[in-house]
Amino acid sequence: MLVTGNDILVPARAGKYGVGSFNTNNMEITQAIIHTAEKLRSPVMVQMSEGAIKYGGQDLANIVIDLAQRATVPVALHLDHGSSYESALKAIKMGFTSIMIDASHHGFDENVHETKRVVEAAHAMGISVEAELGRLGGIEEHIVVDEKDAFLTDPEEAVQFVEQTGTDYLAIAIGTSHGAFKGKGRPYIDQARIVKIGELLGIPLVAHGSSGVPQEIVERFRAAGGQIGDAAGIADDDLKEACQHGIAKVNVDTDLRLASTVGIREALAANPKEFDPRKIFGPARDVMAQVIEHKMRVLGSVGKA
Ligand code: G3H
Ligand code: 13P
Ligand code: ZN
Repeated sequence: MLVTGNDILVPARAGKYGVGSFNTNNMEITQAIIHTAEKLRSPVMVQMSEGAIKYGGQDLANIVIDLAQRATVPVALHLDHGSSYESALKAIKMGFTSIMIDASHHGFDENVHETKRVVEAAHAMGISVEAELGRLGGIEEHIVVDEKDAFLTDPEEAVQFVEQTGTDYLAIAIGTSHGAFKGKGRPYIDQARIVKIGELLGIPLVAHGSSGVPQEIVERFRAAGGQIGDAAGIADDDLKEACQHGIAKVNVDTDLRLASTVGIREALAANPKEFDPRKIFGPARDVMAQVIEHKMRVLGSVGKA
């Protein structure tokens, strides 16, 4: 069933488990996400960025909405990194049930102002909202506290922000970053900060940049001819711990990008004469489904629907 973000995330926060919010850009990605959720009885969020909306538009949103409506587990369609009030309204009109307004690059007051406008519009339609406070970006564990404080989310500020905006869930900067290169070795994630913010705020917290960049997938990518440098993602145990302390929405895009490319590269390499798209995109869908299943098990959302 198609539900709002709050319908999925409030129980997740209370039950101390995470729900994957996976980016989609086409039918195969959407099927991998929703069919795996169904198989594992897991709630799930499917998110489209503004780039995904430009690429797939209402056609893609309708695919998500249709699969969600026919699913027997809760599914939300979420706008990822909405950049403006106009963008949020457009997504609401398209049928999204969860909206992110990302005004985190502005100062505190402007972020509050922009977020508040979106919250008012979305709530009037019964749709829930994610906002972001702090600046996303990988940091090294050993950097001094002052430097961390400069761009990671300040717990006291987070409380004021939520009070002033009425946002339903909050993306916090905890050292994670987007993409396949999150840091050397085991990328840093500021668990103490999550604990502190989780103690002060009862709403669901959101972790962006949460791909695990599984080394097995990276190796297969290389073996099938792909080129990639020192790729590293957030360790499974680190995500598990974060979900114990308030992280309820866990954003994943890069892992699906890698998995789909591995599926395509392996299919083409194994069958140089193949040109039936179903024999190429089908394997991509299968590899994505495996990666999604692993993530749902790590987050603890399996069997929660
Ligand atoms: O946060 C970024 C997501 O990975 C979406 O990326 O804007 O290229 O679709 P995109
Ligand atoms: P990854 O790049 O780690 O998959 O993060 C995606 C994300 O945060 C989308 O909003
Ligand atoms: Zn993000």
